[in-house]
Amino acid sequence: MSRNFYHQMVGFCIQVLAVLFACAAGTENRDVSNTFRAWNTGDQPLPEQLAFVYKEMENLKHEQTLMKQKQESISQALPHCSQTPVDTDMEMNLTSLQSGSSQLLYTLAQYGDEGSGEEDSDESSDPCYHYTVLDQSWRATNYSTKNVACDRRVLWKGWYRLFYRGKSIQMPELCVKKDMCGTHAPLWLVGGHPRIRDGVVTRKVCGNWKNKCCMFKSPPIQVKACRGNYYVYKFVKPGACHLAYCADINTLVCGKCKRSESCISRDKITWMCKKNKIRVKANVHFFASYPAHISGKVNKIVYRKVYVNQGGAFNSRTGTFIAPVSGVYQFFFSTQTGGSGVTDLWLVVNGYWVAVSHSNIQGPNSVGNLSTYMTTLRKGAMVYVTHNHGRSWANASSNTIIFGGSLLMVRKI
Ligand SMILES: *[C@@H]1O[C@H](CO)[C@@H](O)[C@H](O)[C@H]1NC(C)=O
Ligand SMILES: *[C@@H]1O[C@H](CO)[C@@H](O)[C@H](O)[C@H]1NC(C)=O
Ligand SMILES: *[C@@H]1O[C@H](CO)[C@@H](O)[C@H](O)[C@H]1NC(C)=O
Ligand SMILES: *[C@@H]1O[C@H](CO)[C@@H](O)[C@H](O)[C@H]1NC(C)=O
Repeated sequence: MSRNFYHQMVGFCIQVLAVLFACAAGTENRDVSNTFRAWNTGDQPLPEQLAFVYKEMENLKHEQTLMKQKQESISQALPHCSQTPVDTDMEMNLTSLQSGSSQLLYTLAQYGDEGSGEEDSDESSDPCYHYTVLDQSWRATNYSTKNVACDRRVLWKGWYRLFYRGKSIQMPELCVKKDMCGTHAPLWLVGGHPRIRDGVVTRKVCGNWKNKCCMFKSPPIQVKACRGNYYVYKFVKPGACHLAYCADINTLVCGKCKRSESCISRDKITWMCKKNKIRVKANVHFFASYPAHISGKVNKIVYRKVYVNQGGAFNSRTGTFIAPVSGVYQFFFSTQTGGSGVTDLWLVVNGYWVAVSHSNIQGPNSVGNLSTYMTTLRKGAMVYVTHNHGRSWANASSNTIIFGGSLLMVRKI
């Protein structure tokens, strides 16, 4: 009897399993249609769609294998292949990862107990240059695997940079379909990546499960943007198994951006390199004076008393200003003359005499004359003042023979 009975029981169990698989498949299908849409970049050609369907079928197979494993563990836990058919409720409880119902496949641990221990031991070294390469292709968002990874088992230490087969890659900024990234609940970065000027920031990390993008609130991680369009992450142990940090395959393009470009995305799905706007700060100012009398022709006044030389573009040895960037500049220069007739000072730009400070006064009188000039200059343009004629008066503290200027705005020519 035993053998016969055994066969019957096995048959019954197989039926139960079949029902279970059907249910699981049903759930999975809904899941696919709901969640994966976020990752579809639109209407794809038929071959891609077919490939996708095929891949999904593989996922289902994988899911079924999992189910089988669960089923087996249940069977082992129960004395016989029991009469109480394991219903979908039970299956839900097994996969829902809620504490108390997850012993068979998952262990749920409280986080906060570890991973936060060693905070920034060395501030001195920039993590942009001191990181561990994390090049595991199974972390990719287009990867579902038979080996389900759990980053809780990793002893995270310090900073990491994500790669995909040697190419720089970033964490996803959007919810990733479950069972991708070689794990059950893929971890994605909430709130996006920082900018370089943000320095080190702390970002929330979420794991998607059962259509809840943040079913798992994993402990936050630190992120830093680096020059050269890449990021470093200070990964910590996630709160549970099986959770793993994801690498967004759509961001592979970002690794190809030039240094003068940024990787941008409106929808966080399609990424592209975009040229940075030149935003040189208009921080060029100088002000200098000549501290003594000048008589007759002096080709180039060497204003050797420099009060302001922001940007260092004025040379006090030669009295010449050299435009450090192309843009709009404003200059001013002045003199003071006594009763000696005509005095002319000229502003010289690239050899052209463009503006004069002229005075003509007789007798014992004295007069100051300030001139200004505004122009667009190319980078490298030379500007100085020439004393063409007459007599200019100044002493060490009078600041009557002066020359100054400012970059008003940077502009490409
Ligand atoms: C599974 O969870 C449901 C509620 O989600 C509960 O009603 C049911 O009793 C649970 N079953 C087991 C076997 O824990
Ligand atoms: C994931 O995407 C990469 C890059 O497009 C591709 O080379 C790889 O074959 C894809 N992997 C899977 C499993 O689809
Ligand atoms: C000051 O200079 C301007 C031109 O640079 C000239 O027209 C004007 O006459 C000068 N003023 C005096 C008082 O010389
Ligand atoms: C410089 O000239 C100013 C203005 O005329 C005068 O007040 C001052 O005493 C002079 N300083 C020196 C050191 O000659």
